[in-house]
Amino acid sequence: MSEPVRIRTQRTIIRLLDVEEAELLRRYRVENREHLGPWEPLRTESHFSLEGARLTIEAGLEAARADRGYPFVVLSPDSGEMIASLTFGNVVRGVFQACHLGYGISHRHEGQGYMYEALDAAVRYAFGPLDFHRVMANYIPRNERSARLLDRLGFEKEGYAKRYLKIDGLWEDHVLTAKVRAEG
Ligand SMILES: CC(C)(COP(=O)(O)OP(=O)(O)OC[C@H]1O[C@@H](n2cnc3c(N)ncnc32)[C@H](O)[C@@H]1OP(=O)(O)O)[C@@H](O)C(=O)NCCC(=O)NCCS
Repeated sequence: MSEPVRIRTQRTIIRLLDVEEAELLRRYRVENREHLGPWEPLRTESHFSLEGARLTIEAGLEAARADRGYPFVVLSPDSGEMIASLTFGNVVRGVFQACHLGYGISHRHEGQGYMYEALDAAVRYAFGPLDFHRVMANYIPRNERSARLLDRLGFEKEGYAKRYLKIDGLWEDHVLTAKVRAEG
């Protein structure tokens, strides 16, 4: 990407974080440790430190430069608070033009339509400027909020993978879904 991405929605801004903004990411991680823990890989203590946040942001900026992944954050309109994260990762180009989507929202913003609002705009961006043909998103069957969200966004079920990802220390089955660009 040559220019920094900045997607505006009615209530949010979606973009990559700068390294100087690591405190926003650290605070989000610490405040949502218990909320996000059951749906994420096991984390080491460094994940919750300022240095850990800095390293994540640096790696994310490098990934975006190299078109390997886009770890966007969803911010309040004044960029003073991190509301959610959404990542287009595992980018494959060539004949596939596909990526995996991961996301999570702060416990304080859950259940208010923020994640839908941000993902709706971000997926449009993925099919537009990022030029993806297919965005894949997978969830643990008991994650009903995630299932509802993806369904509403127009993701379709494509399969069921046993012991697919190691989440919170356990290999968990996942429902596989995808959204495919309408044309082109
Ligand atoms: C999965 C997750 C992102 C879903 O977040 P969410 O806030 O429920 O998603 P949405 O933005 O679609 O919000 C939907 C809810 O907001 C309500 N809502 C309120 N105002 C709304 C508005 N203006 N527009 C849309 N929905 C609105 C909806 O009625 C719905 O309510 P409900 O939960 O009572 O059904 C969230 O639960 C989460 O972060 N979980 C932990 C991490 C995780 O599971 N990540 C995904 C791994 S696959």
